[in-house]
Amino acid sequence: MTKPRIVKICKLSAYGEEQLHDHFEVLVPHEGLTCTQMPFWDGPAKSAQALVTTAPVGVNEEIMSRLPGLKAIVCRGIGTDKIDLEAARRRGIHVATTPGVLTECVADLAMGLLLDTARGLSASDRFVRSGQWLNGPFPLATKVSGKRLGVLGLGQIGTAIARRAEGFSMEIRYHNRCPVKNSAYVCMGSPVALAEWADFLMVAVAGGTQTQGLVSESVLEALGPKGFLINIARGSVIDESALIRCLETGKLAGAGLDVFTHEPEVPDALMKMDNVVLLPHVGSATTDTRRAMEDLVIDNLLQYFAFGTLKTPVFP
Ligand code: 8YV
Repeated sequence: MTKPRIVKICKLSAYGEEQLHDHFEVLVPHEGLTCTQMPFWDGPAKSAQALVTTAPVGVNEEIMSRLPGLKAIVCRGIGTDKIDLEAARRRGIHVATTPGVLTECVADLAMGLLLDTARGLSASDRFVRSGQWLNGPFPLATKVSGKRLGVLGLGQIGTAIARRAEGFSMEIRYHNRCPVKNSAYVCMGSPVALAEWADFLMVAVAGGTQTQGLVSESVLEALGPKGFLINIARGSVIDESALIRCLETGKLAGAGLDVFTHEPEVPDALMKMDNVVLLPHVGSATTDTRRAMEDLVIDNLLQYFAFGTLKTPVFP
């Protein structure tokens, strides 16, 4: 039996690649992540009905236009900020992401990042390794338990983070565009109001044009010189220049960042700060979760080729 033909414009784990090749004829433009080689698009790819991508790679309209047979885009990840959803909808292309399966891992990482930023775990590891302990103790850090956590974006991931924070006896409030029905937490009227109240501001909103720069200089100033910012969402949500200014001038106590505006490039200014924890966008990056995400990619593709529908569609 001939395998259904798909195009893949990203790298998956070895497991995901194997699964994909077991079920499908996988066409890959070339090793890089930009896809401009004409001979590829004029070849067998023209008849591919599905395309696989990841959240950081996304897919633009130019690629969609080169695949006249394209009917389904399946993305490993939940962020759709790099997928031109408007173009997909207009062209009648279904889009699926991998919701649910990465929630727990991202929430685990968010709490780890918060603890590291407040207690200086990475900084104290550097302190021991560089021999500085021999000259005296590590400076005192900030207590986490019992403090106020402001969650910006109480969606699935924000809620999973809040649940974990309850285990640290933290008081929790949030801000969403629309208050969450029946939530046990108080909804604050604006990001500034939430930041003013919070000791820790956890950014868990979706990326994209609607949330671009949502954490502005005023929000950071409201969080204040004793406040910490934690971002596990998207770099675009934070005004990164304002963040650097606030950290440099002591208007903010510290920051824990898993995502950046121009990742994998990280501003030099942040690299030099010891009160900042920098992670390479690893929220969902465990073997277990990546496997679950890739299984869901395969399930979506199999369902599409069997029934013409997707298992976890972004829009109906
Ligand atoms: C991963 C993500 O970085 O799901 C998202 O939106 O950003 C992350 O899960 C991504 O899927 C890695 O390919």
